[in-house]
Amino acid sequence: MILAPSLLAADFLHIGREVEMVNESDADWLHLDVMDGSFVPNISFGFPVIEAVARVSCKPLDVHLMVERPEQWIERLAACGAEFMNVHVEAVRHLHRVVEAIRSAGMRPAVTLCPATPVCMLEDIIADVDMVLLMSVNPGFGGQKFIPSTVEKIERLRSLIERTGSKALIEVDGGINRETALAVARAGADALVAGTSVFRAADPQAEAAYYHGL
Ligand code: DX5
Ligand code: ZN
Repeated sequence: MILAPSLLAADFLHIGREVEMVNESDADWLHLDVMDGSFVPNISFGFPVIEAVARVSCKPLDVHLMVERPEQWIERLAACGAEFMNVHVEAVRHLHRVVEAIRSAGMRPAVTLCPATPVCMLEDIIADVDMVLLMSVNPGFGGQKFIPSTVEKIERLRSLIERTGSKALIEVDGGINRETALAVARAGADALVAGTSVFRAADPQAEAAYYHGL
């Protein structure tokens, strides 16, 4: 299983130390949650932090933009060397154009669905994206409870991917712990985002190794 710890749950007084911890762990990517206080009812961090983290992270950056009009940040995010740029289908009007622009800028395009947005919204874009990020909580906050209906949604997305021959990975974000991770893995996810359960664990690296080993 691909594991992307979410920096949102890190100790922000010591971000450098937290990124080093992830660098030295079995985690595969580093997940960065950007919030604008408009698309979601919270503000997290922006480019000054992303740019600083990008300079020290050895792990590919999986950037999740919970912002209105994310397309305005494509060039700046590409300049950070981000691997994935995740945009919400609910925040973008011309999704195909934005996906193409993300790829042209040198990043891997990923599309994100809120819990109430159905998988069928992806029918005509699934062939063009490298990943789908399914939210298993309502975006905006770490530490929320996993929404159980996500498990069936993963199965529906897996069928769509198989039917269309898409190469998209399935990533699941929100409320991942040792229990929910098993159900998510069984349903066919490729990647897990884990904030609280990794960064707030007594031994974050052991926790990262556990999810990575699923
Ligand atoms: C929520 C974010 C998540 C969040 C996950 O809006 O997209 O990435 O950090 O946090 P946990 O793992 O604590 O639910
Ligand atoms: Zn996220």
